[in-house]
Amino acid sequence: MLEDIQQTARAFDSDLASANGAREIDEVRVRYFGRKAGLIPALFTRLKEVPKEQKREIGDALNKLRDRAEEALKEKTARLVTEKVEHPLDVTLPGRAPRLGHLHPTTLVRRELEEIFVEMGYSLDPGPEVETDWYNFEALNFTPDHPARDMQDTFFLDVDQLLLRTHTSNVQIRSMERFKPPLRVLSCGRVYRRDEITMRKSPVFHQAEGFLVDKGIHIGHLRATLEQFIKRLFGSDLAMRMRPSYFPFTEPSAEVDMSCVFCRGKGCNTCSFTGWMEILGSGMIHPQVLRNVGIDPDVWSGFAFGFGLDRAAMIKYDIPNIRTLFENDVRVLQQF
Ligand code: PHE
Repeated sequence: MLEDIQQTARAFDSDLASANGAREIDEVRVRYFGRKAGLIPALFTRLKEVPKEQKREIGDALNKLRDRAEEALKEKTARLVTEKVEHPLDVTLPGRAPRLGHLHPTTLVRRELEEIFVEMGYSLDPGPEVETDWYNFEALNFTPDHPARDMQDTFFLDVDQLLLRTHTSNVQIRSMERFKPPLRVLSCGRVYRRDEITMRKSPVFHQAEGFLVDKGIHIGHLRATLEQFIKRLFGSDLAMRMRPSYFPFTEPSAEVDMSCVFCRGKGCNTCSFTGWMEILGSGMIHPQVLRNVGIDPDVWSGFAFGFGLDRAAMIKYDIPNIRTLFENDVRVLQQF
């Protein structure tokens, strides 16, 4: 019997020690003190069977076990209560850091680009996103049946034959109509196209348009300007190349590639083992475009380029999916 008492005492100690929280402590209480099946009351019941001469010793041991167990339960419950009450009042706990806002990756690239071009003497002009056919297409030398005007590409608005600009080239016309050359303008903003959302395409995205009009401007000025900003934005070790291309508003036109930023030109999966990444469209402003805004192409010439800001952010920050840039999940934005 004495042995049973000692064993119950040990079991009680370990049960109570591993009990966490009020519910588990209460379970221990029921297991040892419950009226029906409590282990300690059961021991008291067995006291009847103990021989007379041992009754005193065993009775004492049992009383001791009961008192000690009751005390231990009370103490552990009390500790729980004080911990709970004190917790919210503990002025020594470190404060919770408020969440800080972060600049969006596209904004970071835009700001860096603006800084580079402002240093080169350019003015910033975002221009309107809602446009007329004249500024988005006609003055830029798009023929009336040019495929870019197709419903597939352009969002037309219901009112006044307005549309959402499909590129930032509208700012070329707006600036050249308002200001006399010489002109240097950088224009960053949203553009819209009826494209499906994929890893690399979104119906709304961001472009930067740069253009310059002055006397004696030739393609060497364009090349030098592009090389300068690409190297500053992506790294001075990168090479650049121009490939002949076509845009209605530039002649000649060139597609511009830079060395793949992931393999630095060696060839990898991202650049399909070419070592190059296509990053912008450019060219010398078409004489007809200058005539359309009343600038004499025999006196003035200029260059222009259009650059995808979302794509630049994806390349610079290694973001594989353009959706990431439009979902604006704080957990993602916090990384930049
Ligand atoms: N507007 C053209 C596009 O969106 C890019 C471009 C701009 C090309 C300026 C040449 C000159 O694809």
